[in-house]
Amino acid sequence: MARKPVKKPEVETTGHSWDGIEEYNNPLPRWWLWTTYLTIIWGIGYAIAYPAIPLPGGATPGLLGYSSRGEVAADIAAVEAQNAPLTARINELELAAISTDDLVGGEADGFAYNGGRAVFQTFCAQCHGAGANGAKGYPSLIDDDWLWGGSIEDIYTTVNHGIRYETDLDTRTSQMPAFGEFLNKEEISGLVQYVGSLSGINGAVETEDGKNLFLDNCAACHADDGTGDRFVGAPNLTDAIWLYGSDEETLTETVTYARFGVMPAWSGRLSESQIRQAAVYIHSLGGGE
Ligand code: HEC
Ligand code: HEC
Repeated sequence: MARKPVKKPEVETTGHSWDGIEEYNNPLPRWWLWTTYLTIIWGIGYAIAYPAIPLPGGATPGLLGYSSRGEVAADIAAVEAQNAPLTARINELELAAISTDDLVGGEADGFAYNGGRAVFQTFCAQCHGAGANGAKGYPSLIDDDWLWGGSIEDIYTTVNHGIRYETDLDTRTSQMPAFGEFLNKEEISGLVQYVGSLSGINGAVETEDGKNLFLDNCAACHADDGTGDRFVGAPNLTDAIWLYGSDEETLTETVTYARFGVMPAWSGRLSESQIRQAAVYIHSLGGGE
């Protein structure tokens, strides 16, 4: 059975009545109403003052001209203005003089070194590893084995113009041929054995044929004794450091198909000062010449 509504006599009714059901007159509290009106007024004011209403092509800009992007840009500009004398100093110094300069030199607290480390972690670590120790196809930058040279000028040129980076006219470049197109399997296998013997890899045997094939086909870039040539970025094949790997399968793959390691050029993407700082940082990592 439906309960009968208990009528509270102290509350007035509005006088409306539907089928005997009456409506109490319980107005909203004053403070509540006023708060609502104030938030509406504030909302309109806010929408006029700040960017608010989304339109095709961007939101309404607001009378105050505020934008959060603008705020970030202003912060960045402030930091850049603060650093301007330091970056100018880096750009005017000889590369080799930066790391010992009173103003920007030094490790740990040095502006150039720290800036270079930040650049490295942001733009280079994904390929060269967070510790710069490299990975297959990406050279370690902490050892003293250099494909293209380890002086600070060499490093600067590499970073500035990249390697085999087509859109940079001054990029470092060379191309090892894919020998699978000219040599048969037996010849390649002899070469792989010979290359292995150069660095004393266990079980690799040096044959007269392998040696002759090497002198005919490979020495132009890797040198007669296999120690490589930085002018064309040809790796030293006599040491224990390998860019792609030294097991038979990998060597066969390298000689048959060749590789073509590409590194982007950073001029245009990074500022001159950032590239110089990166060169200072890499040069300081232990292998710098
Ligand atoms: C997309 C991957 C990639 C990124 C990003 C990258 N590199 Fe490289 N880097 C390479 C490759 C690949 C090589 C080796 C190319 C070759 O076979 O000669 C290389 C080579 C180098 C060399 C030459 C090493 C030598 O032995 O001569 C230096 C120096 C270098 N990178 C520094 C940097 C710096 C500094 C940055 C960041 C500003 C950077 N790289 C970002 C891929 C990359
Ligand atoms: C035109 C120059 C050139 C010639 C000729 C050449 N190479 Fe290379 N080689 C290179 C370059 C440059 C690289 C670096 C890898 C790349 O291209 O990214 C390389 C890489 C290698 C590697 C990889 C080394 C590593 O650390 O992983 C091997 C092995 C090698 N070459 C063997 C040979 C053999 C064997 C021949 C002859 C049959 C030969 N190359 C001929 C330029 C040359």
